Amino acid sequence: MMRLENKGAVVTGGGGGLGRVYALRLAAEGANVALWDINGAGANETAELVRKTGRIGVGMQVDVASEAQTVAAAKASADALGRIDIVVNNAGIVRDIHPVPIEELKLPDWERIIAVNLTGSFLCNKALVPYLKRSGKGKIINVSSGTALHGTNIRLDYICSKAGIIGLTRGLAAELGKYWINVNAIVPGPVPTTLSGLDPLKTHENKADYYPPEQLYAGRYLMREIMPRDLEGLVAFLASDESDMITGQLITVDGGRVFVG
Ligand SMILES: NC(=O)c1ccc[n+]([C@@H]2O[C@H](COP(=O)([O-])OP(=O)(O)OC[C@H]3O[C@@H](n4cnc5c(N)ncnc54)[C@H](O)[C@@H]3O)[C@@H](O)[C@H]2O)c1
Repeated sequence: MMRLENKGAVVTGGGGGLGRVYALRLAAEGANVALWDINGAGANETAELVRKTGRIGVGMQVDVASEAQTVAAAKASADALGRIDIVVNNAGIVRDIHPVPIEELKLPDWERIIAVNLTGSFLCNKALVPYLKRSGKGKIINVSSGTALHGTNIRLDYICSKAGIIGLTRGLAAELGKYWINVNAIVPGPVPTTLSGLDPLKTHENKADYYPPEQLYAGRYLMREIMPRDLEGLVAFLASDESDMITGQLITVDGGRVFVG
């Protein structure tokens, strides 16, 4: 029996990038998966890939910053999958991966980044927790970023949105423990994806518009690029019964740049 056999999972931002990688790994371990993405076509493509593994896959066009859309999608996902056990709050945006001075940050950009990355994770959790409670236990995996721990390499609006995910994770872990719902956050360092304008399947150490190697590896002990494959096993582990006594934790995947989260 596979460790996620017949579990129901929602992966936000599952229409591409890391979300697609996580969704396919959860399906490979036995889960049925609903993909929520503002890019409905991408969500449907991932759903098709999930179905090819023999699991239920459903794609939905959802803006995670909309409460009405997340509530409707939660019900539709529970109806399609039969149950919800796993939530991966992965949808996220960045205006530009390179930092700019605070004087140049525009309020509408700040507000949209916070709305999608932080409020979106709050709204998805809010909409899906009732279904996790109904399942008798559950796994929430939020997605922060190493930038929230070391404060560098990217714009302030993004850093602050991902710092908020740490509070969301710890506060919700405290609230939901009595329902046997685990809430943890993965904290990746930079990974090449469409978020950074790159192909997730290739390495990019020397690409001029990505981070130069001396910045990419600064303070890191494992001196290679972080790839999507370095994250997917952690997501599957946190989604599984093997992590039943782990909650409220930040798990950093950054080659050792940050030891204490
Ligand atoms: N790539 C990295 O270096 C890195 C590092 C740390 C954390 N992260 C985080 O990992 C997550 C995934 O990032 P990625 O690199 O795969 O990015 P990506 O841009 O490749 O994928 C993000 C997905 O989210 C979707 N999305 C955007 N806005 C949305 C909205 N309002 N509602 C629903 N879906 C929406 C996009 O359509 C896309 O499919 C993000 O939360 C990101 O902040 C990425």
